[in-house]
Amino acid sequence: MVPLRVWAARPLGRAVARGLPLPAPSRPRLCSSGPRGARDEAPEARACFTTPIFYVNAAPHIGHLYSALLADALCRHRRLRGPGAAATRFSTGTDEHGLKIQQAAAAAGLAPTELCDRVSAQFQRLFREAGVSSTDFIRTTEARHRRAVQHFWAALQARGLLYKGLYEGWYCASDECFLPEAKVSRQPGPSGDPGPVSVESGQPVSWTQEENYIFRLSQFREPLQRWLRDHPQAITPEPFQRTVLQWLEEDLPDLSVSRKSSHLHWGIPVPGDDSQTIYVWLDALVNYLTVLGYPSAEFEAWWPTTSHVIGKDILKFHAIYWPAFLLGAGLSPPHRIYVHSHWTVCGQKMSKSLGNVVDPRACLDRYTVDGFRYFLLRQGVPTWDCDYYEEKVVKLLDSELADALGGLLNRCTAQRINPSGTYPAFCAPCFPSEPGLAGPAARAGPEDYALVSAVATLPRQVADHYANFQIYKALEAVSSCVRQTNGFVQRHAPWKLSWESPVDAPWLGTVLHVALECLRVFGTLLQPVTPSLADKLLSRLGVSATERGLGELSFLPRFYGHPCPFEGRRLGPETGLLFPRLDQSRAWLVKAHRT
Ligand code: MSP
Repeated sequence: MVPLRVWAARPLGRAVARGLPLPAPSRPRLCSSGPRGARDEAPEARACFTTPIFYVNAAPHIGHLYSALLADALCRHRRLRGPGAAATRFSTGTDEHGLKIQQAAAAAGLAPTELCDRVSAQFQRLFREAGVSSTDFIRTTEARHRRAVQHFWAALQARGLLYKGLYEGWYCASDECFLPEAKVSRQPGPSGDPGPVSVESGQPVSWTQEENYIFRLSQFREPLQRWLRDHPQAITPEPFQRTVLQWLEEDLPDLSVSRKSSHLHWGIPVPGDDSQTIYVWLDALVNYLTVLGYPSAEFEAWWPTTSHVIGKDILKFHAIYWPAFLLGAGLSPPHRIYVHSHWTVCGQKMSKSLGNVVDPRACLDRYTVDGFRYFLLRQGVPTWDCDYYEEKVVKLLDSELADALGGLLNRCTAQRINPSGTYPAFCAPCFPSEPGLAGPAARAGPEDYALVSAVATLPRQVADHYANFQIYKALEAVSSCVRQTNGFVQRHAPWKLSWESPVDAPWLGTVLHVALECLRVFGTLLQPVTPSLADKLLSRLGVSATERGLGELSFLPRFYGHPCPFEGRRLGPETGLLFPRLDQSRAWLVKAHRT
């Protein structure tokens, strides 16, 4: 038998089939029009978002939380567009099989199930506390998942896409992947002796030689290229799509998709062959179908609307292996794949050995849930790594949430300036819809028109940034408008105007009305990122639960000659500072960091 080096540059035609016949290549059926159920509905009537499922070999860190928050913000933003939560699904969960978990459990002296239960519970608790609004939490050790994986395997087998061959090559247990020779180098390990490690992750690799089931990945190079050419936004942001297209220019060898159960017992057995365990990545990726009810037909209405959020380190698995498996099983590739970069801590990669892993629950306690959500999503840029350090969090939250946004709300609602506690009336002659129509009562200047135009276009801009997976830019745009609104209030100094003066009062009311309208837009748009803070803000403005969607937003209708439902309405009760400054407690933070 000729051994097959998966990921080595050996032509795949040399793989020797054993046990299973080598069938004629079957052409995958592309489901471009979407399956039944989804077809009769309005486009985008449904949307499904997923996070990666998280390994349970170690406790959650801020990078994991970031992945989940990005998906949460996308999903929450989608829900704001209506028709409501019923049309969205959002799954997250834990990836519990594989050598990595088997080894971590052994090292901890635990049975794998004990380790999985323990760490999975930590992820569930973290996500609950962080307001991750998932509708399903999957564990790959659940029976529903085993059924789905085995069904999926059978679908690949029925299409002649699996064969038995001898796999020989490097395996990195920590990354759960096979590596070509070129991706392995020799470096001193913990004992000081040089050992083989993965060039990319620095993790140890070991030489493996065994008989496995092999997936005919090499057949999918051209279909994958076609998929990406036909869907230029499939992988977003665009540089990641380019990376994948470049990978597809290279050799795409067949892929080993099982391990000997004597070596890897912690996993799902190959149907009909207990001597083999299904490769953990095939097992893990199928979670995206399991949560939709696969293999029962209900999954078909949701699958074509499913978008994945993933970190850049797992791009190859999601943008090459997964779409190839799907095409192989007769399903369409994912709707979108949103890719993000990583968090470092004080300039260094987070790692247990460096002792710099940041506990996300401590951050939620320190900066509040909304504060930390805002920080991660405001500072996290998908195309490059971002650095976490405490001073940066404090500075950002104090300036943007406490001072700029909280200060603005306070300025417009404080009893001293707004003694009636209402949404004041807008005076059209003071702020005519076009500067050219200005009469003697007009008080608005060019910068005020610029503000109205900026806030009027903000929801669209924010939606575009979400569509391009640039949530940080959406928040930057909101923050810039908050600054502009503060400039507007500062310019017109309502505290210098008097409600008693018949000349000042209409303009004073108008200044507050415009600023409150801006705040209503900001509160609405911030809901996906800072849900509690946005709720507090909108409640203070007297905006009811049914008036918080993007469809109901219509900014400053009085300026455009339409009635405003808020005009004259009582503001909601005063509930204290929107976001208390953090810097008073800074000394404590620094001390806590040192101990
Ligand atoms: N179990 C696989 C995913 C299977 S999905 C079918 C896995 N798990 S993981 O726990 O290692 O990573 C989960 C997610 O966390 C990935 O998207 C990964 O990119 C992300 N992060 C891990 N470390 C990170 C940072 N330091 N910063 C940001 N995100 C990072 O991979």
